[in-house]
Amino acid sequence: MDRLDRHISRRAFTVGATLFGAIAATRTMAAPPLTAESPMGPFFPTSYHGEDDFDLTMLKGHKTRALGDVIEISGRVLDRYGKPLKGANIKLWQANAAGRYAHENEQNTAPLDPNFQGVANLVTGKSGEWRIKTIKPKFYDTPLGLRTPHIHFDVQGHAHRLMAQMYFPEEAEANAKDFLYKDLGEGAPTSVAQMMAPSAYRWDIVLMDAA
Ligand SMILES: [Fe+2]
Repeated sequence: MDRLDRHISRRAFTVGATLFGAIAATRTMAAPPLTAESPMGPFFPTSYHGEDDFDLTMLKGHKTRALGDVIEISGRVLDRYGKPLKGANIKLWQANAAGRYAHENEQNTAPLDPNFQGVANLVTGKSGEWRIKTIKPKFYDTPLGLRTPHIHFDVQGHAHRLMAQMYFPEEAEANAKDFLYKDLGEGAPTSVAQMMAPSAYRWDIVLMDAA
């Protein structure tokens, strides 16, 4: 190797190392906190075979919308470097406006809502995006204490799966008293959606995946 070759090769190494350093730094700087894991709970919709599209408030063939305050939630599924995860699968389920799940394990005697879908299955788009139209779930009682309003999420990326629960920012007081929310510790803020407008929320879900 002559002097010029050595110079070029050293320069290529330096440029490569700088580039690698820059990418690593960007990844470190941009890395969002992982979304906190939460228990699946007793109401995972194992035997649900009904309608499961993004609009939980209106069932096909029904004339009446589900009871309760209609809200929209959108967000993205991201990998641990903050890159969007296309094709991630999201299953979500929630109580209705009376705090009742349509599930065989449910003990709550609050009324079911025949017009409420209760479950959705989604696949994220090119930018990792997803959205739902639903009603805000009511709090409900359990033998362990009151559950603040929340929506359950089962998110499958390309290599990791996360059970999580999304909480509402305007319920800060009730959230702070909730036994499962308290268990999240420092991860709790990753489970709270942002309110973008009245009835519109945003929640990004960050998985362990590396896209
Ligand atoms: Fe729940």
